[in-house]
Amino acid sequence: MEKFLIEGGYRLDGVVKSSGAKNAALPIIAASIMGEDRTILHNIPVLKDVDTMLKILTFLGAKVNFSNNTLEIDPSGIKKFTAPYEYVSTMRGSICLLGPLLAKYGKARFSMPGGCVIGPRPIDLHLKGLKKLGVEITNEEGYIVGKVRKLKGSKIFLGGNFGSSVLATANVMCAATLAEGETIIEFAACEPEIVDLARFLKKMGAKIYGEGSHIVRVIGVKKLKGVEYTIIPDRIDTGTYILAVLITKGKIKVENCIPFHLMALMDKLEEAGIYIRHGEDYIEVEGADKWKAVDIVTLPYPGFPTDLQAQMMVFLTLADGISVITEKVFPERFIHVGELNRLGANITLDGSKAIVKGVKNLFGARVMASDLRASAALVLGGLAAEGETHISRIYHLDRGYEKFEEKLSKVGARIKRVKE
Ligand code: UD1
Repeated sequence: MEKFLIEGGYRLDGVVKSSGAKNAALPIIAASIMGEDRTILHNIPVLKDVDTMLKILTFLGAKVNFSNNTLEIDPSGIKKFTAPYEYVSTMRGSICLLGPLLAKYGKARFSMPGGCVIGPRPIDLHLKGLKKLGVEITNEEGYIVGKVRKLKGSKIFLGGNFGSSVLATANVMCAATLAEGETIIEFAACEPEIVDLARFLKKMGAKIYGEGSHIVRVIGVKKLKGVEYTIIPDRIDTGTYILAVLITKGKIKVENCIPFHLMALMDKLEEAGIYIRHGEDYIEVEGADKWKAVDIVTLPYPGFPTDLQAQMMVFLTLADGISVITEKVFPERFIHVGELNRLGANITLDGSKAIVKGVKNLFGARVMASDLRASAALVLGGLAAEGETHISRIYHLDRGYEKFEEKLSKVGARIKRVKE
């Protein structure tokens, strides 16, 4: 296993480029199997999660060719419809293949995704939406088995106890593109990655209206074609670099990003007293010597993203005052708190709230990564801490950050990947 060694306390300064969005790439790669011919995707990040998705596609019989962030997918050889446990268990996001498989082939067999360290991850909304489109679903030996002769458009309310669901919206929207007649999805997720998926599907020939709002209308078509498409930049990647640099009181320009997708983060940083400048496709921030505590509530888009909660928490550990972070998307997503406290943070938990009392300094320590974004938070903590931080189990990071240490090193971070 590999770990990171970070020598903290250095100011970061420079320019980084955002990678393509993981959470747009996964459902778009999945949707490409609905095309009659080959699809070419650009700006696909080189990540473990993408690799897992490609392994599943190859297992199903598709041909894939991935080089220089460009991915070619030829789905014509797909002859299997099972997503096996060994893949689904490492990447819950693979569930977004369910809708496309059912839409194109009328059958899918999916290992039931379990819970994970960020809390329970139910799929009731995915199943509810697909059932409404006519899919018959059974549970056989830990596998969800879906079958349908012909999908039929329907009116579907997709809201759950925690609001909208990103991948349930992706699954139902994909399935509806090849259904007979009209589908209306109410309480659809509005995330930019859903909008990107809808744009991709429209390029394939789908008829989708209202993407980016809570009500999405899809008129089914008979066939979709393979297309060439470039996916959007990753807003979480962008936000992570911004926070990494601010924590070290440095300066950064993040290029190839969409600032509009990060309004909630920029708003909170400004409230904390950070100076931000942005153009159409870049964000520049300059660290301050001191910043104010702010309260954060994570919410579905356009609210503050849960995927930046852990990284923002590190920033707030060094703020002046007390911040309260309320996690409303995954109420148990606080696994990083204990490890941040090992670095000298002062964070207490009260149900789905974290109370962060600002401290003057963090100190290097041995910590363990637990999930993707929590791992990024530990790296940020290590960059700000005095002394050396060892982070083990960094394979979590490789799931979702492209060239993480390379990009950080480029702006002056002292971070090394070594064998344990
Ligand atoms: C996606 C993202 C993930 C992000 C999350 C929330 C991908 C690959 N992953 O995950 O990075 O953290 O959105 O922005 O795009 N829920 C239900 N029933 C369901 C589905 C979800 O109750 O059937 C609940 C979840 O437990 C959670 C909330 O809805 O509390 C939002 O989850 P959801 O939007 O579905 O997350 P994912 O799409 O899995």
